[in-house]
Amino acid sequence: MNATDPLDSLRGVVGASHVLTGELTAGYVVDWTRRWRGQCAAVVRPADTAEVAAVVRICAGANVAVVTQGGNTGLVGGAVPEAGAIVLSTARLDDVGSVDDLSGQLTAGAGATLAAVQRSARDAGWRYPVDLAARDTATVGGTIATNAGGHHVVRHGMTRRHVVGVEAVLADGSVISHLGGLVKDNTGYDLAGLLCGSEGTLGVVTRARLSLVAAIDDVAVALVAFDSIETAVGAVGRLRRHLPEVEALELVFEDGLVAVGEVLGATPPVLGPAVVLVEAVGGPDPATALGDAVAELDGVIDAAVADDRVRREELWRWRDHHTETIARLGASPPHKLDVTVNIRSLPEFVHRVREVVARDAPEARLWLFGHVGDGNLHVNVTGLPPDDHTVDLAVAELVASLEGSISAEHGIGRAKRHLLGLTRSEAEIRAMRSVKEALDPQGILNPGVLIP
Ligand code: FAD
Ligand code: LAC
Ligand code: ZN
Repeated sequence: MNATDPLDSLRGVVGASHVLTGELTAGYVVDWTRRWRGQCAAVVRPADTAEVAAVVRICAGANVAVVTQGGNTGLVGGAVPEAGAIVLSTARLDDVGSVDDLSGQLTAGAGATLAAVQRSARDAGWRYPVDLAARDTATVGGTIATNAGGHHVVRHGMTRRHVVGVEAVLADGSVISHLGGLVKDNTGYDLAGLLCGSEGTLGVVTRARLSLVAAIDDVAVALVAFDSIETAVGAVGRLRRHLPEVEALELVFEDGLVAVGEVLGATPPVLGPAVVLVEAVGGPDPATALGDAVAELDGVIDAAVADDRVRREELWRWRDHHTETIARLGASPPHKLDVTVNIRSLPEFVHRVREVVARDAPEARLWLFGHVGDGNLHVNVTGLPPDDHTVDLAVAELVASLEGSISAEHGIGRAKRHLLGLTRSEAEIRAMRSVKEALDPQGILNPGVLIP
């Protein structure tokens, strides 16, 4: 950023104490995994939508890039700035409005955490079903910008399904606001839907109208060990068919459970070649229904079932702790791929990805876990130099050969931009580029992210 002018203008808008420079920016220029690092001219923390709009206008006038950052828990380097950019932190846009008990909706600021929204919903007898292990830090804006998935997609869908409307600042500083909460509104393009998954490249989300679902009381969770990945995947359809409602269907493997156990200082409740976590709700007695359904499955070698909150959380932590555990392994950050294949191809993918990593990086370790109900696996590889992309490319090519997607829920960010063409066509990428150029002709919003 040239001289002091734009920074002084920014100080004039948000106050000097909310324009951070130098060492104060350290936590904002590296991502959660520590694989992606950048630099910035300043971190700016506006207090409301008008200040966000003024910040964006100043940056547009000075041709300075704006990288929006929420909780900085993204896993694809999408909130990491390039030198000269400003980081626009949404930390102060953290208000959570009250729940409208008729519509089951609430309005939240982009910087509110997922946990804060979940809490407000719960206090009012409702539930915000988007949930992920980073809930205490990940924000409403970040989950919208990445269209986050998480634990309950199998029943409730991705974030986009719960966004009724958004308020956002566009690249020219204009504000679009559609927070009236109309469930049906076919008046042209769905701009809120477009902003979901746009990764900060089309606008800065400042507030969102979110739809809630009914709270649930009776919940049962089972951790079920199978003799193979084939029987584990084979259980998915049967569980969905035989249980009243399935809230989560997650997959972990023996090596991951053992590693989590070392971090937690505990012994895994079950072990086996493939382990599925099932969360069931509905009906008069979900625990009995879940126990009965598990008893009917092929290939089960062990199972633990819980219906009280404490023991349910006990079982969930064996799944939730995977990302943090893997982040602690080895001296260098893990390489992370987040892929989907058709659920039918999942066993083949598991076998072949093990072969690919053993072939291309025999010194590395592969960790697999994910959301089996969605055909979504997180492929983590530890023990590789951060800038060696061989395995990343080989895994992405394997996914493409199985007609899957190279990003199921984490997005493209900086990490996967060069891989986008593997699973999106040239025509699709041209259309995305046209949208980007129309809404951000100067290219100031998150340059270097998403669009190849
Ligand atoms: P950030 O990391 O700050 O930003 C992410 C992207 O969104 C960036 O491109 C940024 O520029 C953009 N952005 C942020 N705020 C805004 C805004 N207000 N307007 C416009 N653009 C914005 N993800 C899943 O989908 N499912 C999971 O199960 C899951 N589990 C996780 C578990 C752990 C332990 C961790 C560390 C991460 C996990 N994630 C998961 C990834 C991450 O939490 C999500 O991508 C989350 O949505 C990011 O939110 P954030 O506020 O931290 O966004
Ligand atoms: C999870 C994150 C990594 O599923 O998406 O734990
Ligand atoms: Zn996930």
